[in-house]
Amino acid sequence: MSLTMDTLVSLSKRRGFVFQSSEIYGGTGSVWDYGPLGVELKQNIKRLWWRDFVQMRSDMVGIDAAILMHPNVWRASGHVEQFTDPMVDCRECQHRFRADHVDARPWLHFCPATKGNKFEIPAGEACPRCGARRTLCPDCGKGELTTARNFNLMFKTFMGPVEDAAAVTYLRPETAQAMFVNFENVQQSMRLKLPFGIAQAGRSFRNEITPGNFIFRTREFEQMEIEYFVNPHETVEGRPADEFWHDRWIADCMAWFRRYGLSEANLRLREHEPDELAHYAKRTLDIEYRFPIGWSELMGIANRTDYDLKQHAKFSGKTLTYFDEERKEHVVPYVIEPAAGVDRALLAFLAEAYQEEEVRGEKRVVLRFHPELAPVKVAVLPLLKKREEIVRTAHAIRGELANHWRVVYDDTAAIGRLYRRQDEVGTPYCVTVDVQTVGDSDKGEQGDQRVTIRDRDSMQQARVPLRELVPVFQDLLTGGYWAAVAGRFGAAAAAAAG
Ligand code: GAP
Repeated sequence: MSLTMDTLVSLSKRRGFVFQSSEIYGGTGSVWDYGPLGVELKQNIKRLWWRDFVQMRSDMVGIDAAILMHPNVWRASGHVEQFTDPMVDCRECQHRFRADHVDARPWLHFCPATKGNKFEIPAGEACPRCGARRTLCPDCGKGELTTARNFNLMFKTFMGPVEDAAAVTYLRPETAQAMFVNFENVQQSMRLKLPFGIAQAGRSFRNEITPGNFIFRTREFEQMEIEYFVNPHETVEGRPADEFWHDRWIADCMAWFRRYGLSEANLRLREHEPDELAHYAKRTLDIEYRFPIGWSELMGIANRTDYDLKQHAKFSGKTLTYFDEERKEHVVPYVIEPAAGVDRALLAFLAEAYQEEEVRGEKRVVLRFHPELAPVKVAVLPLLKKREEIVRTAHAIRGELANHWRVVYDDTAAIGRLYRRQDEVGTPYCVTVDVQTVGDSDKGEQGDQRVTIRDRDSMQQARVPLRELVPVFQDLLTGGYWAAVAGRFGAAAAAAAG
């Protein structure tokens, strides 16, 4: 199966993951809203990242800084001067393109060899009829393109009631700078010793010229960034500390994506060539993922040296150093920066999880999310919605499990349809309440107080006592194996309903 972005866009809309922003007004360019399931998935990604990289580590702390910062932050960081893309405009249709992306798109051509008939020519190729290469606008095929001009990607706004030049500020284009400007506050308030890191997850804004590909490149997005400060005068295992920690963070980030389900075959590292390194970087690697659009950046891990702290010291007039007690000297720490995009991580997890398979002659769409990522952990389904006792018991189970996880109740279709719906949104387990569970009071029959748990991936079922539900899910949702549960409670092959 070759997965397309259109399949993911359509599933995302149909099942409440992602909607186009302001859709009833025709949509806002490259801005997306997360729906009821999307917000759960996104929060799970951020929560796991925070748990694994902040909560679990004694060398990490977090902050949550304001989006609006002092405008001088962006002068010091180089964003006012250098955060630009070269842009060209079509003089005819006024479409705007990134100069370095124009030839990466198919182009319209009115071919002189066929009396001016219109053809769409694949990206980068010449017209097979007349041999011409693209020189005009790729979209309308008629207009000349302007020469390239630099376009700053920061969104400008005004702080306070007066809209003049003195009030100009920017929506942050990255979360990173707040960690640098708070370096001293954090280090002193928490009495931190090098090496230590500051993490932050939050919104960033970039007025991208050619955004697109769903949530891959958008104008408003979320980042999860870490600035890890190391002493450049130290060595670790015989290597300069910054180089050691850079490699360590690359390995840790790769392992994190693998742990939550991205496969080895779809992940790779790409080292930046010297001529593409950012002005502040000694060395940068991207973790790339094989998205439906091809191999593209999932996150970057840069060695930013002491560039940022020195720049902010210069522009603010404050000394941003660390006193090394051992060497009795002030040092400007080097910074290793693992910078990930939440939306891109979500897209990668969604693409990796998506599978179509045939079950008893019918197509089954299933999102095989890692249980800790799945937006809904358990769906509770009554087998007969007309039996009051069954419905009451199912609601009670949902209420009990909801103390621990996101759990839904659904009785709006037959059981087979309900299972398929949960498969399609990646719910790892369903609980089915039936007559056997509750018994039949009219006939004086006692129920067995057991329910059927159905495993999404194998579609196997096991009959589990109600009192065991919480511990069983506690185990299954934190790395426990279905086979162990099935072994303990007796697995049944998937029922006809699947
Ligand atoms: N502080 C460094 C920094 O911001 P970056 O490579 O520009 O580095 C880091 O951004 C990550 O943020 C990217 O790897 C990507 O995952 C995400 N990102 C950047 N621009 C984005 C956009 N326009 N839309 C969605 N995600 C974006």
